[in-house]
Amino acid sequence: MQNQRRHAHVLVVTYPAQGHINPLIQFAKRLTSKGVKTTVATTLYTVKSINVSSTIAIEPISDGFDEGGFNQAPTLQAYLESFKAAGSKTLTELIMKLNNSGTPVCCVAYDLMLPWALDVAKDFGISAAMMLTNSASVCSLYWHINQGGLNLLAKQETLAAPPMPGLPSLDVSDLPTLILDIFGICEENDWVFCNSFEELESELVEALMAKWPVVMIGPMVPSFYLDSRIEGDTSYGASLWNYDNDQCLKWLDSMPLKSVVYVSFGSMASISNEQFQEIAWGLKASNMPFLWVAKELKDNQLLELIDSIGEMGLVVKWCNQLEVLAHQAVGCFVTHCGWNSTLEGLSLGVPMVCVPQWSDQPTNAKFLAHVWKVGVRAKQDQGIVTREELGNCLREVMIGERSGEIKSNASKWKELAKRAVSVGGSSDRNIDEFIAKLLKPDQ
Ligand code: UDX
Repeated sequence: MQNQRRHAHVLVVTYPAQGHINPLIQFAKRLTSKGVKTTVATTLYTVKSINVSSTIAIEPISDGFDEGGFNQAPTLQAYLESFKAAGSKTLTELIMKLNNSGTPVCCVAYDLMLPWALDVAKDFGISAAMMLTNSASVCSLYWHINQGGLNLLAKQETLAAPPMPGLPSLDVSDLPTLILDIFGICEENDWVFCNSFEELESELVEALMAKWPVVMIGPMVPSFYLDSRIEGDTSYGASLWNYDNDQCLKWLDSMPLKSVVYVSFGSMASISNEQFQEIAWGLKASNMPFLWVAKELKDNQLLELIDSIGEMGLVVKWCNQLEVLAHQAVGCFVTHCGWNSTLEGLSLGVPMVCVPQWSDQPTNAKFLAHVWKVGVRAKQDQGIVTREELGNCLREVMIGERSGEIKSNASKWKELAKRAVSVGGSSDRNIDEFIAKLLKPDQ
């Protein structure tokens, strides 16, 4: 079998944001660990500027901004158009190069932000897999909204009925704020891989399978935390920012079991000064030790903030979030509910306080608080969570009446996530079936 597997070569093409690089590189590592040759492609600027683990074969393509990357583009739309033009050409050249230098590429697995990669795969006559980096539920909502099934302009408080089986009843405030319009091409793919697992969204996935060739393969969390089949796999392996995790781990080691509040808003959300102040004072008043990733603060602001909130906390610019969430001292995760952070919190069994900002995050928060019941959603007053509200939420999750139920649900989902990716689990079987199909496409 291993010999046969050498004939399969999957090219994984990722959008160059941390929340996309992480799950797609993890997918590449899983395939490699199963004996499938896998190459990752992302932008030249990203390849030059990140530290990538030496075990990952990574190749550059162009987004048209080789010197400065995404930040050089005037708008997201302009960036995506430039990426489509330069990316289609350079991805084609890359596949030709890889085909001439060893095992030919037989499948392109591409990020949902790069739908043009499907045409490149079709030109070569090889298979294509779209990689969904959001939950299946969120993708089904995007699709439904694109179909005109939801009138967002109507501004009603609660939607008449959930638009798909398996979705809860939704308020307008639970819907994604940024709508992606790429789901029309889902059915043209051989596979639509979703970074989620069947047990988490079972009813919805069943309904979705009638529309798209959707396959659940997640959670794409480094295997050290879930099934340890890839030796030493304790990080995703490609960080856009430097960090000093020894400092975080040393500090966490000195804290009591499940006492620390970990706060992070991911890689893209931009938190207003007012919100920063409310979080800082809310954390101080809670009297709970905290570790706060405050990525975008300038150094002098950071120092002022550290001074003002005293000795209870550690504020850093970036960390290895997985190592932190897996630490026994961490008892709660204040999160923006990005899909990766959501899956990581679930997979590591950490109760959450949800402070969604934009995009798919409000919907993820709805599921965390009301469907999977592993946390609470903080009330926002004109977009701001006040210090009092943060304090109330922290108490509810850490010591309140519902804290026992929340912790036990968090442990349940941790176990189910682990089972899904362990040998014979639902996601593991799905990946094996994909590999078998690649090797014997006619069956
Ligand atoms: C955003 C969206 O909200 C997400 O749902 C979408 O799918 C991608 O774009 P982002 O804001 O980056 O993503 O959040 P998230 O999806 O949570 O990804 C952040 C990643 O960075 C996580 O994998 C997390 O482990 C990592 N991280 C975060 C660190 O490694 N260190 C940190 O200090 C903070």
